[in-house]
Amino acid sequence: MKGFLLLCSCVILSHALPFEQRGFWDFSMDDGLAMMRDEEGASGLGPEGPTSTVPDLGMPPMDLCPFGCQCHLRVVQCSDLGLTSVPKNIPKDTTLLDLQNNKITEIKKDDFKGLSSLYALVIVNNKISKVNEKAFDVLHKLQKLYISKNNLEQIPRNLPKSLVELRIHDNNIKKIPKEVFNGLKNMNCIEMGGNPLENGGIEPGAFDGLKLNYLRISEAKLTGVPKDLPNTLNELHLDHNKIQAIETEDLIQYSKIYRLGLGYNNIRVIENGSLASMPALRELHLDNNKLAKVPGGLPDLKFLQVVYLHSNNITQIGVNDFCPIGFGVKRAYYNGISLFNNPVPYWEVQPATFRCVSDRLAIQFGNYKK
Ligand SMILES: *[C@@H]1O[C@H](CO)[C@@H](O)[C@H](O)[C@H]1NC(C)=O
Ligand SMILES: *[C@@H]1O[C@H](CO)[C@@H](O)[C@H](O)[C@H]1NC(C)=O
Repeated sequence: MKGFLLLCSCVILSHALPFEQRGFWDFSMDDGLAMMRDEEGASGLGPEGPTSTVPDLGMPPMDLCPFGCQCHLRVVQCSDLGLTSVPKNIPKDTTLLDLQNNKITEIKKDDFKGLSSLYALVIVNNKISKVNEKAFDVLHKLQKLYISKNNLEQIPRNLPKSLVELRIHDNNIKKIPKEVFNGLKNMNCIEMGGNPLENGGIEPGAFDGLKLNYLRISEAKLTGVPKDLPNTLNELHLDHNKIQAIETEDLIQYSKIYRLGLGYNNIRVIENGSLASMPALRELHLDNNKLAKVPGGLPDLKFLQVVYLHSNNITQIGVNDFCPIGFGVKRAYYNGISLFNNPVPYWEVQPATFRCVSDRLAIQFGNYKK
């Protein structure tokens, strides 16, 4: 079951934090199998896994599993086999098909024919550049499609309406056309970092109708926060781009965000009031930018726990940059403020600056690294 760690998906950061959510898509091997069994239970097949539909003739069921693969409990494992195409004879009742780390170049029209129970399809780390636009038509139950680390230039057309999670990072996608996510009402999570996507490549309305909770477009070529992302987002990760400024209207519609990743950009300015539209913000990553000062509005964010500001160009820190005026407010919330690797004379920062932080160890100051 090598490679299952790759399946651990959308909820990936900060295990130690108390608000860590373990959604059903948080998918380790054990959970995955447990989940599969639940699914089976729900569909009336019982928790013990499949019983063969082939009459028992006293022969080992050779033809039930593609050559080289392992088939067990409706999970078909065909990773690391050097396959150049999707194997034939995949059992029809398969719920998880793992084809990662092969050399598959293309998904053809009938590759998944009859796999109407398929729930998770993992084709990470292949050489796929073409997906037939009817290839997914039969996958009425597909919830997870992991097709990262391939050579795709386009998001596949006609994604199954049942899809909940799409991982398509590290491909060669430059464009998100308007229709490509149409009708994906259950979609919760998209990870599409590591694609050469510019702001202009995202067609207006591309995300319309999606109710995403998680979106990651890191390691792309964005020069600003993309417009009109779903306002349902709880997590937005845009680190390792070329964003230069955050303007008030950039974040105004995302009132549900609690984790915002903007590290490793070129941000010099965060307009006053930009953060005020995200009252639920708990974690703000702004490290490795070019900020000259602490962004305004932090004291008003009641749930803010983590602020990364290290490796910026911050030259001074004001006594009210982090904490509200008055004592006794916002105690015990901050559990990580990082400020190291800034040109601020640390000895000049007044101790009262951190009066609302109960644990001094939460503050990473000076030039020591964590
Ligand atoms: C932003 O807010 C800070 C403190 O709240 C204030 O000193 C500064 O003048 C404001 N800047 C602008 C451009 O409004
Ligand atoms: C850092 O800020 C100073 C002014 O405070 C400016 O002269 C310098 O160019 C900035 N450095 C970077 C890398 O932005």
